[in-house]
Formats: sequence, C-alpha cells, structure tokens
Amino acid sequence: MENLWGGRFKKEINKEMKKFTSSITFDQELAIYDITGSIAHAKMLGKCNIVSHEESQKIVVALEVILKDVQKNGLSISEGVEDIHTWVENKLKEEIGDIAGKLHTARSRNDQIALDERLYLKEKVLKIQDLIKNLQKSLMLTAQKNLGIIMPGYTHLQHAQPILFSHHLMAYFYMFERDRGRMQDLYKRIDVLPLGSAALAGTSFPIDREFVASQLGFSGISENSLDAVSDRDFILEFLSASAISMMHLSRLSEEIILWSSKEFNFIELDDSLCTGSSIMPQKKNPDAAELIRGKTGRVYGNLINLLIMMKALPLAYNHDMQEDKEPLFDTVSTLGKSLFLMSKMIETMQINKEKMEKSTKGDFSTATELADYLVKKGLSFREAHKLIGKIVLYCLENKKSLEDLAIPELKSFHKDFKEEILEILKPQSAIEAKDSYGGTFSKRVIDSIQKAKNILKQ
Ligand code: ARG
Repeated sequence: MENLWGGRFKKEINKEMKKFTSSITFDQELAIYDITGSIAHAKMLGKCNIVSHEESQKIVVALEVILKDVQKNGLSISEGVEDIHTWVENKLKEEIGDIAGKLHTARSRNDQIALDERLYLKEKVLKIQDLIKNLQKSLMLTAQKNLGIIMPGYTHLQHAQPILFSHHLMAYFYMFERDRGRMQDLYKRIDVLPLGSAALAGTSFPIDREFVASQLGFSGISENSLDAVSDRDFILEFLSASAISMMHLSRLSEEIILWSSKEFNFIELDDSLCTGSSIMPQKKNPDAAELIRGKTGRVYGNLINLLIMMKALPLAYNHDMQEDKEPLFDTVSTLGKSLFLMSKMIETMQINKEKMEKSTKGDFSTATELADYLVKKGLSFREAHKLIGKIVLYCLENKKSLEDLAIPELKSFHKDFKEEILEILKPQSAIEAKDSYGGTFSKRVIDSIQKAKNILKQ
C-alpha cells in the first residue's frame, strides 16, 4: 500500500521504522468512524465547490460502499499499512482512481484522527451509560426482591451496626448513578467537531464546518485549531470516569468475593459465572469478581499512561499521541465487560438470608442502641458510650452477648434500663430505629428504591 507522503524522500523507510510507526494493528478499530467522517468531509467539499459536485458524489458513493463492506465483513488489512487513514484512502483509490486523492483537501490526519476518536467515543460513552444503567437496575431489583433481609453492616471489616441487605446494595446503586452522571457530563465535551482545524492552523479553503458538524451530529465546533488537534482531555476525562467506575466495581467485587467465602457464606454465585480448579475438585471460584478487581489496575494504568504521555507535549500534534488509542480501546472494552458481568452476578446470585441474619446475633452490633437509649434518658453521649463499653467488657469477660443480659444485670450498670430495652436491642429494632433521611429504616429503604426506579425511568 502507498503511503500518504513520500515526495520529499530520497530513501525508502527502514523496515523496523515502518513497523514501529504503524498503528494499523490497533487503529483499525476506528475504521467505520474514519469512513463516516470522510463521507461528511467529501460532501462538504462538494457543497462548498472545493471539489466539483461530481467528484464529491463519486467519492461519497465509493466511501459508502467501503463503509458497508467494512461493517459487514470487517477489514482485511494488507501488510505494511501505516494507519487507518492510509488504508481508507488506498481503498478509495482502488475503487475510483486518482479522484480519491482529492478527499484529503482542506484536511490533515491531525484533525482527522481527533475526529475519529471523538466519533468513536461518543458512541462508546452512550453504550457505557446503558451498561451502567443495567447494572443499577440489577442492583435495584435485587434490593427490592430481598427487602427485609438483615445483615451486619461493617466498618474496618468489623461488625458495626445491623443494616438491611437492600440498603447495602442501594449504596452501590447511588455510586453507579454518579458514575453515569460523570459519563453524561463528559459526553458534552466530546461532542465538539475538530475537523476543519487541518494540520494545526486551519485551512485556506472555504470550508463549512457547521455543515460537517450537523452531518455528523456534533453539538458544537472547536474554537481553536491548535487546541482541537492537540488536546486529548476528552479521552482523559473518559479514562478518569472509567477509573472511578472500576474502583466502584472493584469494591463490589471484593465484597462478592468475601461474601461467597465459606467464612461469610452470605451469597452463592451462579455456576455460570464461576470456574473450578484443575486440582481441587470441590472448588468454585468467584473469577468474574476477581478479574474485575484485577483489571481495575489496568484501567488505572491506562489513565496514568495517557496523563504521562501528554504532560510535556508542545503544541500542536505530536506523534506521541498515537499512543492514546490502546489505553482508550482497552478501557472501553474492560469497563464494558466488567459492567456486564457484574450485572449478571448480581441478578443471579443466591442470597443466604439465614446466614446473614445469624451473623448479626451476639456480635454487639446493637451496642450503639444501648448508648442511644441512655442518652434519651438524659445522659450525655460520652457518658453513655463509656458505660456501654463497660457492659461490653463485662459480657466478653463472662462469655455473654448483649442479648443474653437480663434486666437486673443491666440495671446494675444503670438504673434507667427498663424492660423495653430488650426489644430495642434486637437487630430488627435497631434497623427500624434508623429513621434519619438516607438511613437503613425499612421505610426509608423502600422510598430509596422507589426513587431509584424513577431515576432509571428518566
Ligand atoms: N496515526 C496518527 C495518530 O494516531 C494519526 C495522525 C498522524 N499524523 C501525522 N502527522 N503523522 O495520532
């Protein structure tokens, strides 16, 4: 295949150099966006009489044929192509001959690649938003289906206070709601047409950028040609938002891994989302969750990779920027698959209600209720805290749990303890008492699920 340059060179390119600079092995991912962008550009060239109407028509029709073919059959790359832009132009030349050479009028690969990436990412960000929404739906439905199940709430991975399992799941719903919001927000800044900036300075041809923007569905056009060809902040924003989303997925994965261990035994994952061991026949491993947790590292790496690659680049385009593609594509694919598999895990997991509820027994997780009780009787919280600490110590030394204590025993610590405290000490009562907005009181959780439903409807 012919290069898009060469006139000023006396020597052939070094073979290793050619391989080293080529990006076709990965930027072929951009083929359909590159062709789509070229179709809009060719139409504009005709409309503005930069090429003749017939030439424009010829180019557009041929590009549409190539596009259909790529959509149907993918692309068969021939050896030695420098990049996707070269591949498309060569293909066009095979179809219509030398007129193909007119397509690149008033355009550079620098604004072209920025366009391809923006077209690609606009589509992918919408897909990612849908995948996040599906996961939120799985969380919401699982929370709704399992309303009433009590589990220990943790801090420091120590039993802290009893909560509703649904409340725990809904915590993730709202994390992913913010993730989706970040994707919606950054979409606006991807949605800007860079084409028409040419190499860096703009062009002397009478182009119509608004026309191209409307053809390609962009909401705006870039203000500064140098900026448009040389910044990749729109990719960095996506990688940042993706890194945060992977962090949330990784935390949920960690909990799934813990919960499905023998020690916790809170859930059982569906067989279809686990694998076994080649040596230990009894094993059933939570691989999807482990790999999501593991792959979070590479998504963080992709962000750092691009931040570092960009940080010292002078304006405008530099070939370093070709390195932006692999971290971008890898993030789109890793985040997408992780979101999908997480939804599946949540939808299909079996919940061990008895084990979860049993874990809240005898774990002192209602000690705060005892303290709050005394505060309501007039003690300061500090005094009450200290006194309940003594009761806990007493229990530990006497191998008792809070629930085992009789009223006389409690009264020996403070006279204000009454019969009612035995009810207040139950995990169920502790949950029903957390009536503050956003708390685990069952009615609050039901409201929060209802709210989530409305959010997902929007
Ligand atoms: N393959 C290049 C990239 O991905 C496209 C732009 C190349 N421009 C150039 N002048 N070499 O960034």
